[in-house]
Amino acid sequence: MKGIILAGGAGSRLYPLTLVASKQLQPVYDKPMVYYPLTVLLASNIREICLISTPHDLPRFRQLLGDGSAWGVSIEYREQANPEGIAQAFLIAESFIAGERVALILGDNIFSGGDAFPRAVAEFHGGATVFAYHVHDPQRYGVVEFDAAGRAISLEEKPAQPKSNYAVPGVYLYDEHVVARTRALRPSARGELEITDLNKTYLAVGQLQVIRLSRGFAWLDAGTSTSLHEASSYVQTIEKRQGVKIGCPEEAALRRGFLQLPAFDALVAKMPNCEYRDYLLSVAAEIRRVGLEQA
Ligand code: TTP
Repeated sequence: MKGIILAGGAGSRLYPLTLVASKQLQPVYDKPMVYYPLTVLLASNIREICLISTPHDLPRFRQLLGDGSAWGVSIEYREQANPEGIAQAFLIAESFIAGERVALILGDNIFSGGDAFPRAVAEFHGGATVFAYHVHDPQRYGVVEFDAAGRAISLEEKPAQPKSNYAVPGVYLYDEHVVARTRALRPSARGELEITDLNKTYLAVGQLQVIRLSRGFAWLDAGTSTSLHEASSYVQTIEKRQGVKIGCPEEAALRRGFLQLPAFDALVAKMPNCEYRDYLLSVAAEIRRVGLEQA
């Protein structure tokens, strides 16, 4: 499966932070926001990646992530001239997708805990898979309703009267028909190709799988100054307590075998002295001591 990171948009709710650098380049505690969704893809065994952003911000992402070869993956870039909807990503990245299955992750979604995404990617067998997460403010999101047997029966985008508290987070898996299905969509009243409309086309033919994320799982939003600060605090708290980092692409690449230890060592050696480097050194030392399976 290939992966797309959608990292465009206006970021207007983070003004003035986003005057010169886009939302997904802002720090979430100790690393740029885009590291978090990138790490979700790598940890899910996805190593062919396309990042989509605005013409203004794309050069910065290239500068930050390069072609991915340092991490044993490949990263391509595509422009979204205007924020005309999340589903537009599939039309923009059509040549990258090249008829294969694809995962889409939003560049400002931060997740922590569990192995729901790697499992869903490994077990994906067609149609579309989305996730559902219990939130207190579902009207801000796509909302999924379940029947008594736990089957998804409806999807609504930002409903005024939500039928449940289950919101759909920004990670979606699709089969090879996603481009054709997107092409058949019409823009919504707000002029966007809606990801919820795309998901509804799969639901209508019984091909939408909805996986409920457990309570122990964290899905954080970083779209406003307050939620960005809270996300940073959350990451700092977990990292300090556990001594492991969230959203560390170098570590995910090493654990997935995209990078071998000598290449990992060389990568770390190029970093300046900092806490991030110290952490990566400790990861390599532990793997050398107890092996990849136990570390
Ligand atoms: P939003 O948070 O809905 O929008 P935004 O990032 O432009 O922020 P604001 O409302 O503060 O102006 O977008 C969710 C994510 O999807 C975010 O990572 C940006 C991305 N996105 C695009 O890249 N292109 C699009 O056309 C849309 C609608 C969203």
